[in-house]
Amino acid sequence: MATSCISFIFFCIILRSFTISDAIVPQNETFRYVNQGDLQFGTDYLTYDSEYAPTYRSLPPYTFPFQLCFYNTTPNAYTLGLRMGRTRDQTVRPWVWEANRGKPVRENATLSLGSDGNLVLADADGRIAWQTNTANKGVVGFAILSDGNVVLRDPKGNFVWQSFDHPTDTLLIGQSLRIGGPYKLVSRESVTNNVNGAYSLVIEPKRLALYYKNDMRYWSPSFSELNRRNVMLANVTFKIAETEYEETYFHELKFGLVNARPIFDQTVYLVLGRIQYNSSLSYLRLGVDGNIRAYTYRTDVRSQAWTLLYTLFVKRENENGMIFEDECQQPNRCGKFGLCEDSQCVGCPTPNGVFAWSKECDTKPPGCKAGGFTYYQLKGADHFTVKYTAGNRSASRSDCESKCSKDCGCMGYFYHTDNSRCWIAHELKTLTRVGNSTHLAYIKKPVR
Ligand SMILES: *[C@@H]1O[C@H](CO)[C@@H](O)[C@H](O)[C@H]1NC(C)=O
Ligand SMILES: *[C@@H]1O[C@H](CO)[C@@H](O)[C@H](O)[C@H]1NC(C)=O
Ligand SMILES: *[C@@H]1O[C@H](CO)[C@@H](O)[C@H](O)[C@H]1NC(C)=O
Ligand SMILES: *[C@@H]1O[C@H](CO)[C@@H](O)[C@H](O)[C@H]1NC(C)=O
Ligand SMILES: *[C@@H]1O[C@H](CO)[C@@H](O)[C@H](O)[C@H]1NC(C)=O
Ligand SMILES: *[C@@H]1O[C@H](CO)[C@@H](O)[C@H](O)[C@H]1NC(C)=O
Repeated sequence: MATSCISFIFFCIILRSFTISDAIVPQNETFRYVNQGDLQFGTDYLTYDSEYAPTYRSLPPYTFPFQLCFYNTTPNAYTLGLRMGRTRDQTVRPWVWEANRGKPVRENATLSLGSDGNLVLADADGRIAWQTNTANKGVVGFAILSDGNVVLRDPKGNFVWQSFDHPTDTLLIGQSLRIGGPYKLVSRESVTNNVNGAYSLVIEPKRLALYYKNDMRYWSPSFSELNRRNVMLANVTFKIAETEYEETYFHELKFGLVNARPIFDQTVYLVLGRIQYNSSLSYLRLGVDGNIRAYTYRTDVRSQAWTLLYTLFVKRENENGMIFEDECQQPNRCGKFGLCEDSQCVGCPTPNGVFAWSKECDTKPPGCKAGGFTYYQLKGADHFTVKYTAGNRSASRSDCESKCSKDCGCMGYFYHTDNSRCWIAHELKTLTRVGNSTHLAYIKKPVR
């Protein structure tokens, strides 16, 4: 009796390890979809349709309100994307996840899940554009979950792979950025060109920050908690939670920044807005313009299902303990070069004075030759990096200038006379006008 019981357990253990390592995807769970057939149009402005106004083909995998599609904004260059919303919503349906940014596929490309458990996007010639690298890792099934997470499951229901670990420019509710994991969002280059753009939202041990071209920080929320020596961030999660203190607006969308050291267990929250309805179907987007916006989705309405709830860079005062920034903090607000004030482009600085701003406002390349350039001064102007970076302290203005002069790529420098801080700028873009004559800008100009 005892022996048979033991051998039964033994048998179970063997069976179990056998199942996990050699699990194959059952025949009826495998699929192969070919990118061919009639194209649908997202460009009908009467019915509205899909974000970026592409043509597209929808694929069978669908879990309300998420659907996999091949879409293209330039002919014969398709992205495999996850779209959110229904036709009857009569609002543009956004793409909330994508597989192959920068690696478009053509007509007759295939998306397939084979019995080995690898999900593969292959171009028409067989070249692999994207894959989950999950062959022989115990995958037994594929699913789009109701929160928009696309998953490959093992026999125990664990996720061998999940799209939530592979964000591009969008986070859904419950999705995180993590130290040591998916740590950033990267903007899209433009509406028509789906390659990485210039902006990123990055989680770092001491901050959440927005960068232009990887190293020019233009925003970071300040939390005194994060300045404590022992506090290191672990992750930041896009959440919705019920609020206790509001009767009418009982749900709150927020970013929870979680400390890695449980001794200081506090999570700090960046509140994005309060709503009256339960919208665990929402998304947060790092836009083509480097702005952050949060949208909520209502399932119980006939039209206008999407609402823009939060915009980070906006012409508005701080309110309700929420964080907003003036549009002038956006690097590209005034194009290649311009002076910005109260969210407006108000001037085009030149060696001969400040003129009216236009899109053509730019600086001339100063060249690299010593003596081939000089500087002109602007009083009361800050670079977009000044507000959220420390600059170099206790430098004299001439130190600051010689640093810029020795640096071929330096387009100008920014100096605060009241605390002797210095910033070097490799791109000028948007300067903010500040009512403070201790803030000086020196812009390089070619000599003749
Ligand atoms: C495949 O078959 C199994 C067993 O019959 C069933 O439980 C499962 O739902 C099927 N999957 C699909 C995608 O039809
Ligand atoms: C796609 O494949 C079909 C055959 O399955 C072929 O008739 C068609 O020409 C192909 N389309 C392109 C654009 O290569
Ligand atoms: C965030 O970090 C905390 C602390 O390390 C951890 O307990 C939690 O599981 C993490 N959450 C996510 C979504 O990664
Ligand atoms: C909000 O909706 C989600 C998903 O439908 C559900 O899990 C959650 O319990 C809801 N919350 C409330 C307070 O109704
Ligand atoms: C500050 O000075 C250090 C050392 O000279 C240099 O490595 C760094 O790039 C400087 N930072 C800025 C913002 O100029
Ligand atoms: C100018 O800016 C400095 C900080 O850089 C601040 O201490 C000072 O009060 C400001 N002056 C005015 C007139 O705003």
